Order: sequence, then C-alpha cells, then structure tokens
Amino acid sequence: MKVRKAVIPAAGLGTRVLPASKAMPKEMLPIVDKPAIQYIVEEAVASGITDILIITNRGKTTVEDHFDRAPELEARLLAGGKQQAYDEIVGISKLANITYMRQKETKGLGHAVLCAKAFVGDEPFAVLYGDDVIIGGEKPACQELCEAYEKYGRSVAGVKPVPLDQISKYCSLKAEPMENEEKTFLVSDMIEKPLLDQVMSNYSILGRVVLTPEIFPILEQTKPGVGGEIQLTDAMKVLAQTQGMIGREYSGDRYDMGNKFGILQAIVQVALKHPEVKEQFREYLLQVAKDL
Ligand code: UTP
Repeated sequence: MKVRKAVIPAAGLGTRVLPASKAMPKEMLPIVDKPAIQYIVEEAVASGITDILIITNRGKTTVEDHFDRAPELEARLLAGGKQQAYDEIVGISKLANITYMRQKETKGLGHAVLCAKAFVGDEPFAVLYGDDVIIGGEKPACQELCEAYEKYGRSVAGVKPVPLDQISKYCSLKAEPMENEEKTFLVSDMIEKPLLDQVMSNYSILGRVVLTPEIFPILEQTKPGVGGEIQLTDAMKVLAQTQGMIGREYSGDRYDMGNKFGILQAIVQVALKHPEVKEQFREYLLQVAKDL
C-alpha cells in the first residue's frame, strides 16, 4: 500500500531554543529565507505524500498563516510586477492538502501522534518530526522510508549512527543489518534516552518514521516515560518487540532545529548553496575564519 498521509508534530514548547521560541514556533525559524517547516512539507510532497496533518498548539497560528493564501501580499507583488515572488508565495499554499489539529496539552511526541488517529484511519502514515530538517541525499528521506515500507510491509524508522557519548540524548536501537540490503536493519528493540549501560547500539531514530495504524492502540496504553511525556519510542518499542520494525539509514543530512547549534549548521550549509547569497556568504565566512 502506498503511503500518502503524513503527520508533522509541531506542538512542542521548544525550550532548548528560548527565547527565540517564546512567541514564535521553532518550526517557523528560518533557514536563510524559508521556515524549517516548509522544508519538511516540501520533503513530504516530494516523497509522494498528498495529505498532511500538522499538530499545533496555542501560539502556532503563524504555521497555518504560512501555508495559507495571503491576498494583500499577493496583490502587492502582482501590482509591482514581481511575478516570480508571487508564484512562489502562492505555490506555498498549494503544496499539499494540509489540515491542522491542536494538541491541547504538551504531553509528548507519542501523545501528539495519537492526536492524528482519526486523520490516519486505516492507512500507513509517515511522521516527520517538526524540528528535524533533512536536506540533500539521493532521494527525500521520507521517500526512502516509504519505499522500505512498501517493500517490507512493516513500520520503518529513519535511523543514523550517533556518537556514543551523545546517545543518551536520543534513543538507542537493537538493530541487525539485513542481508543483501544496504543501510537497512531489522529493529527488535529500542530505548529512549538510555543510560550508558542500557545502550544497545549507536543507531538512533532521527526525525522520520513510517508507521502502521497498529501504533494507535499501543499509544493509547503507553504511560508517560522519560521527562513525564508519552514517548513515541516507548510505543514503537512494543511494535519492534512484537513484530519487528525496519530501520532505514536515510541518505540526507539532518539538522536539529530544536537546538541552537543545529540551527546554525543548517543556516551555514543552506547559505553556502543559496543562489542569491552563496558567493557573498562564502567570502564572508573565509574572512571570519581568518580571524578565528
Ligand atoms: P522535541 O522533544 O524535540 O520538542 O519533540 P520539544 O518538546 O519542543 O523540545 P524541547 O522543549 O526543546 O526539549 C520532537 C517534535 O515533536 C513535537 C515538537 O514540536 C517537535 O517537532 N512535539 C513534542 C509535539 O508536537 N508535542 C509534544 O507534546 C512534544
């Protein structure tokens, strides 16, 4: 079955990027000239997704405004002969069929995904974490996961190796490489934010998963875990232990827009390739580097 629905949880409080995220959602932080969440929606669309549910909360109305029409702005651009900018702005509102749902309490990523139950219905669906932007790679990361789902018919986690001294910030997977298949693993267990003696491998789930609707009854039973939040990892652990999940190492580079260093990395990498500013920015970086 083709994956055509995606959920983007974007209702977190963004406490690691305060004060920027006090009044502005971290998902709206710009990478040069485009908000993080637009990269994510574009990745989903490029992967064949047609229907997207964005999970928001109080104070995230700018996300909805961004993907809506902007009649005054559009009229001004047209009147000023700025056709290219007009097309780009209108194009954002036509990217996909996007709907929104509010997570009324910030009870964790697992709880945010559970909010998508009615939207998802009886289909497999992708989850693109709202603060993880993935750029480059052979194919869009979400597409790589969807293809693995279509091949194996099981839930798929997007994985990457993580330095062992940092794995306690992520999750750790029990992952066996699959024969005759590159960058693909059979995942039979996982643990969120492990202590050093609980680490099962240096592979972690980073930002993307494709799930079957079987996750919902599990999420309904999942108790708050690390940080008092309902963790998606705790529910996926049950899937991994009972039916096995696939781990697919996606080829793109992931930038964590939920932390300050990740934001800086994303901006530098995108700016170095951006047609409008790349030369000027490169010159500037070289100049700055001289004085370091
Ligand atoms: P994070 O744990 O990275 O986001 O969740 P956070 O809660 O904003 O992080 P802090 O406060 O800086 O530690 C991963 C994704 O899940 C969403 C977030 O918006 C982020 O995109 N999320 C998290 C929800 O939608 N709801 C939640 O209750 C928690």
